[in-house]
Amino acid sequence: MNILLLGSGGREHTLAWKMSQSPKCAHLYIAPGNAGTDQVGINVDLNVLDFEGIAQFISDKQIDTLVVGPEAPLVEGIYDFLKARETFKDLLIIGPNAEASQLEGSKAFSKVFMEKYNIPTAAYREFTAANLAEGQAYIDTLTPPIVLKADGLAAGKGVLILNDPAEAKAELAQMLDGKFGSASEKVVIEDFLDGIEFSVFALVNGADYAVLPEAKDYKRIGEGDTGLNTGGMGAISPVPFVDKALMQKVSAEIIEPTIQGLQKDGIHYTGFIFFGLIQVGDQPMVIEYNCRMGDPETEVVIPRLKNDLIDLFSAFKDGTLSEQHIEFDPRTASTVMLVSGGYPEAYEKGKTMSGLDLKTDSVLFHAGTKAQGDEVLTNGGRVLAITSFGTDISAAVNQSMDMANKINFEGKYFRSDIGFDL
Ligand code: AMP
Ligand code: GLY
Repeated sequence: MNILLLGSGGREHTLAWKMSQSPKCAHLYIAPGNAGTDQVGINVDLNVLDFEGIAQFISDKQIDTLVVGPEAPLVEGIYDFLKARETFKDLLIIGPNAEASQLEGSKAFSKVFMEKYNIPTAAYREFTAANLAEGQAYIDTLTPPIVLKADGLAAGKGVLILNDPAEAKAELAQMLDGKFGSASEKVVIEDFLDGIEFSVFALVNGADYAVLPEAKDYKRIGEGDTGLNTGGMGAISPVPFVDKALMQKVSAEIIEPTIQGLQKDGIHYTGFIFFGLIQVGDQPMVIEYNCRMGDPETEVVIPRLKNDLIDLFSAFKDGTLSEQHIEFDPRTASTVMLVSGGYPEAYEKGKTMSGLDLKTDSVLFHAGTKAQGDEVLTNGGRVLAITSFGTDISAAVNQSMDMANKINFEGKYFRSDIGFDL
């Protein structure tokens, strides 16, 4: 297969690393990629939203499979853009069309969908500037914390959880007044769910699907889950509390009704689906859907996958996804993210990294990195995900931390408590 993978984070390096191990991988291109993806494939200087440029590249290089890492091109309709052309009718696209991507691209869309198909999720209402006063009155009926969500994509910053109703009302007004641009023209206010979060992933091709293992990520910048939200500071898979009984509930009450609901609504879904879940008592509920893999969850889920990922993608063409026997390494995988000082607020790029060539059993997945001559420089907030296997969480995390201490760049920061609550 000739593959083009879109994206430039740790998720993409992990997917590229995995695909490059397949004997079926002929040519692997990553656009725009990072210093890590360039070691397992060929980086291409193309922006993930440059649909015209991507189409040209697919034609020039006779790409047969396009794997879309991040959500933005999906929500912006890259699938529809390419499939509108006769020449791409046989192109396999791992990533859903614009309509299906609304599961992530519009919180209101996903809430309506879940309500329609009785998928457990927090009770909610949606508001626009036209009914701000009604929204503020609704806040008065709720017991804090109050959860406000911008409807559209807001780079992971669109969810606010506030203890003070007065502050929540002021925030609602600001959001509807363009705080997150058009993403917050509509705001979902939902009940606060108190529980422990985890994520489940599946490859979906219409009614045909295969479930991948679960993971738990650590979103806050500070130890003990404190401080600002980030894209994710580390992850663990498997998640000990996600036992057979819980997974059966997830399957029967969330995964199955989601797949069937999409079918009933005539929405064709192809690609990864990410179920962001929370266990409240013994009830799993949906916090959010994403139309892509998680980052850094990919860095622990994909290394555990024993199947050839390209075989799984080929099963999209044959309609045999559900027949695939998905096999996983039973050990625990952990990933610890090295980030730039200051992240998730302002940080500096261009710091020289050292220690990347040390011998290790861990796998180093590049996120915000860039090659310059013989050097690797930091090029983002999240810089490097260090993935390790262990017989249990502490063995895996300790090994990742050992490498986290040995790799250096000015301002390096990481959390040393990944998995602390499990
Ligand atoms: P989302 O972008 O919807 O995943 O929300 C970001 C984070 O906010 C989630 O990972 C949760 O930690 C938190 N969150 C979102 N919705 C709720 C809710 N209804 N109750 C409690 N926490 C929530
Ligand atoms: N780690 C959370 C996400 O990818 O959305």
